[in-house]
Amino acid sequence: HDFINTTITLFLSENREDHEDKRVVQEIMARRFTPTVITTTSWEGFHFVGHEIRITEAMDCYGAVVWPSALVLCYFLETNAKQYNIVDKHVIEIGAGTGLVSIVASLLGARVTATDLPELLGNLQYNISRNTKMKCKHPPQVKVLSWGVALDKTFPRSSHNFDYILAADVVYAHPFLEELLITFDHLCKETTIILWVMKFRLEKENKFVDRFKELFDLEEISRFPSLNIKLYKAMKKNRRSA
Ligand SMILES: C[S@@+](CC[C@H](N)C(=O)[O-])C[C@H]1O[C@@H](n2cnc3c(N)ncnc32)[C@H](O)[C@@H]1O
Repeated sequence: HDFINTTITLFLSENREDHEDKRVVQEIMARRFTPTVITTTSWEGFHFVGHEIRITEAMDCYGAVVWPSALVLCYFLETNAKQYNIVDKHVIEIGAGTGLVSIVASLLGARVTATDLPELLGNLQYNISRNTKMKCKHPPQVKVLSWGVALDKTFPRSSHNFDYILAADVVYAHPFLEELLITFDHLCKETTIILWVMKFRLEKENKFVDRFKELFDLEEISRFPSLNIKLYKAMKKNRRSA
């Protein structure tokens, strides 16, 4: 009997989780819309924080499209604005790509620094300016941050104190995983909260999570099995003021 009961309970809870996953993912994806009129420049629209956000994409590189992880993080920030109150907080986004997450964080009232590789910065700056001008408490900044490169010079430890580090879909088959880890570590102070959305694709990426756990306390906040995405909260390990 016990065995049957446990099996049924497990089946029901898995079913419930599956159902809930599909429902939330549908809700998240419904925030995206495409223009009804064909225009010369291609853009995609998103609804967050009561605003219509227009994102121009470029088709030639990774960071040039909005990835599902970014939508998951935007939705999380909007729907958990009480628990994770980022108003007036110092927030940095790494691998910002088209800038959607940084835009949403700015619209929510944070002091945002959006960063990515130099070649992404033009489009990133364009999207951020267009969607935040006259709409934000603190105008966001856009800066180059190549993972692991000249961090002491571009972001000296003594001059920054980020409350939050945001990262959406920064782990995939690229050769800079160790540099990415170094960057998280460099930017993270004792009280910094990392909100990191991870899309699982390959075995190598699970190894990154293991490496990450050596430096940070990692907590899974939510999971979206149908997208192979998990949302993590992390803080530096062995903090004095935990
Ligand atoms: C898969 S995209 C995700 C973009 C955006 N966060 C999103 O979710 O839509 C990965 C991002 O990481 C950036 N990136 C890749 N390697 C990098 C590096 N070595 N230093 C800094 N950024 C890097 C890419 O330019 C790109 O914007």
